[in-house]
Amino acid sequence: MKPLNEVVQNTPPSGIRRFFDIAQSMEGVISLGVGEPDYVTPWRVRESGIWSLEHGYTTYTSNAGLLELRQAISKKLNSLYQLDYDPDKQILITVGVSEGLDLALRALLNQGDEVIVPDPCYVSYVPCIQFAGGVPVRVPSYSEEEFRLDPERMERAITSKTKAILLCYPANPTGATQTRENLRKIVTVAAAHDLYLISDEIYDRLSFTRPHTSIPALTGAWDRTVLLNGFSKAYAMTGWRIGYACGPSPIIEAMTKIHQYTMLCASHLAQRAALEAINGGEEDVQAMVADYDRRRRYFVRGLNSAGLDCQEPSGAFYAFPSIRHTGLSSLEYAEALLMKERVAVVPGNAFGDCGEGHIRCSYATSLDNLEEAIDRIRRFNDQLGGHRLEKTGAALP
Ligand SMILES: Cc1ncc(COP(=O)(O)O)c(C=O)c1O
Repeated sequence: MKPLNEVVQNTPPSGIRRFFDIAQSMEGVISLGVGEPDYVTPWRVRESGIWSLEHGYTTYTSNAGLLELRQAISKKLNSLYQLDYDPDKQILITVGVSEGLDLALRALLNQGDEVIVPDPCYVSYVPCIQFAGGVPVRVPSYSEEEFRLDPERMERAITSKTKAILLCYPANPTGATQTRENLRKIVTVAAAHDLYLISDEIYDRLSFTRPHTSIPALTGAWDRTVLLNGFSKAYAMTGWRIGYACGPSPIIEAMTKIHQYTMLCASHLAQRAALEAINGGEEDVQAMVADYDRRRRYFVRGLNSAGLDCQEPSGAFYAFPSIRHTGLSSLEYAEALLMKERVAVVPGNAFGDCGEGHIRCSYATSLDNLEEAIDRIRRFNDQLGGHRLEKTGAALP
């Protein structure tokens, strides 16, 4: 048989999925592994999905998605961030942010174009850039700087082949947010080098310590930015697979062209449910956000008291504590913690070299689970006692 596509062949499977699959096959595991709300979708949204099915909304929609939904998104972005997007030409409904990201990269990149991404970053960014023919260029960010993306360091990574900068704040996996001032500097660098910005703002509503800054709302950013967002996190709708992309008409038209040949449209039923979420779900969003914030404060205190050095994450629903003092790699630590104490976390190196020395813990789970996880992590750290674990018996099958 002839070989499969080289880029795909050379891409390792996602480190997150591996831990998730192993944790699922074991008894009594507390999973802090997967970045997914533990809430079910609010009832009014589920009910609207049921209503849509009962009333026969089972056809395709227009390629761009239901106009009513695009109008509602335009209104919402205007009220939250004073953004101005024309629902007719500047908003596309996608199958989650995941499809929006893929479309943006394919619409913007030519073979060999470089895309700057912070390191560590969400696991899909590097493979998606490569699948689109691009070359990812990682710019390190460090816990000592609260994972701030340093604009000068970023500028030094720009070459004549750089086409775009891909950002995500609040960030997965670190929970970091950026000051408005820092984002302004990043936009200034992008403008000076005529680069596109792709801003994945999927955690925008989960910004706890400072108001969220939407990148296209910054001076000089709108014309060069593709804004990606969706319903998965804020509305607890991961399984519905609904997102949206906003940007200048030529970019959205190009993305729509790919979408119309490859996807046709996002699920009609899910679009109807998303319409209900955006029009009537604000109270639910605020209640969930308040709850995540409670868990965040409890969990970070708990991790520190259990012997891990954990900075306060200011957004998303992840803590990214350091495990450096244990002398173990993040993979060794995560494997041993899972095998010995049945707590699933993701090794930081799954997100890039700068993630090494950390583990990602999602606190989108009940306070009871968090309390038990902290007890187990404390016991595990006490057993480690600052010494290297015997690797035998601790490694995963
Ligand atoms: C940063 C980031 N972007 C995108 C996604 C995928 O979002 P969606 O469910 O809308 O495809 C995730 C999911 O974890 C994420 O963390």
